[in-house]
Amino acid sequence: MLELDQLVKEFTGFRAVNGCSFTVREGTITGLIGPNGAGKTTLFNLIAGALKPTSGSIRFNGQDVTGLASDELFHKGLVRTFQIPHEFHRLSVLENLMMVPPKQQGESLFSNWFAWGAVQRGEKVVARKAWDTLAFLELTHVAHLPAGHLSGGQKKLLELGRTMMTDAKLVLLDEPAAGVNRTLLRQLEEKILILNREHGYTFILIEHDMDMIFKLCHPVICMAEGSVLVEGSFHEVRNDRRVLEAYLGETTGDAA
Ligand SMILES: Nc1ncnc2c1ncn2[C@@H]1O[C@H](COP(=O)(O)OP(=O)(O)OP(=O)(O)O)[C@@H](O)[C@H]1O
Ligand SMILES: [Mg+2]
Repeated sequence: MLELDQLVKEFTGFRAVNGCSFTVREGTITGLIGPNGAGKTTLFNLIAGALKPTSGSIRFNGQDVTGLASDELFHKGLVRTFQIPHEFHRLSVLENLMMVPPKQQGESLFSNWFAWGAVQRGEKVVARKAWDTLAFLELTHVAHLPAGHLSGGQKKLLELGRTMMTDAKLVLLDEPAAGVNRTLLRQLEEKILILNREHGYTFILIEHDMDMIFKLCHPVICMAEGSVLVEGSFHEVRNDRRVLEAYLGETTGDAA
């Protein structure tokens, strides 16, 4: 479904992503781990079109999508969530979801004036979908709260909900567990699994929470210094000496 070939992203002489290649099979939840600064988020930015690669290529469903902008990728079903949630904090939770669909008819002045009935019907469909999404995520009780009032975990669920408002095929999750309490974490894991098994979502999941990686991900890819260090099952990666060394290297680096 996704093929990365020798991706490089250079920031003024420094290579945050340095010849990164791997493939993601449709229907998997691929785990992406690696020490702080390994280049994981930068790689997501390249895949999701927030940054253009310095070199290398990205293919999505057999199509070359290298350098496409994020909204073009979004229309193709490639969606990401953020390490730090990007909710519209003054809008309600429901409104946050209703804003997501692209090509919402109400947006154009023309359709507002001349196709008022159609706009009304379109909004009803979007509202229905938003309520269904909230029900799935068990967030209906906070539908009318400003999104800024949600807990960290609820914001992560809302981020996931925003991907459900589109016809997402491949969803990139950047540290969904960070700052989430245990109860909501379990809920989040369960929703990710249902979306994967019953709704055909493919995921790439960046996470430092090894418990979550263990429960959800196969295969697991460990990145270090901008490229793939090891790929395999959770146990293969966990028991690989190079992975341990990469994490220890990070600790030594921090101490220095
Ligand atoms: N816009 C930028 N300009 C310059 N350097 C950057 C930029 N974005 C990221 N970097 C650097 O690139 C490296 C990789 O950062 P990145 O955020 O991709 O790491 P990460 O693997 O996601 O780390 P973490 O696990 O801490 O989130 C880091 O050294 C970071 O400081
Ligand atoms: Mg990161």
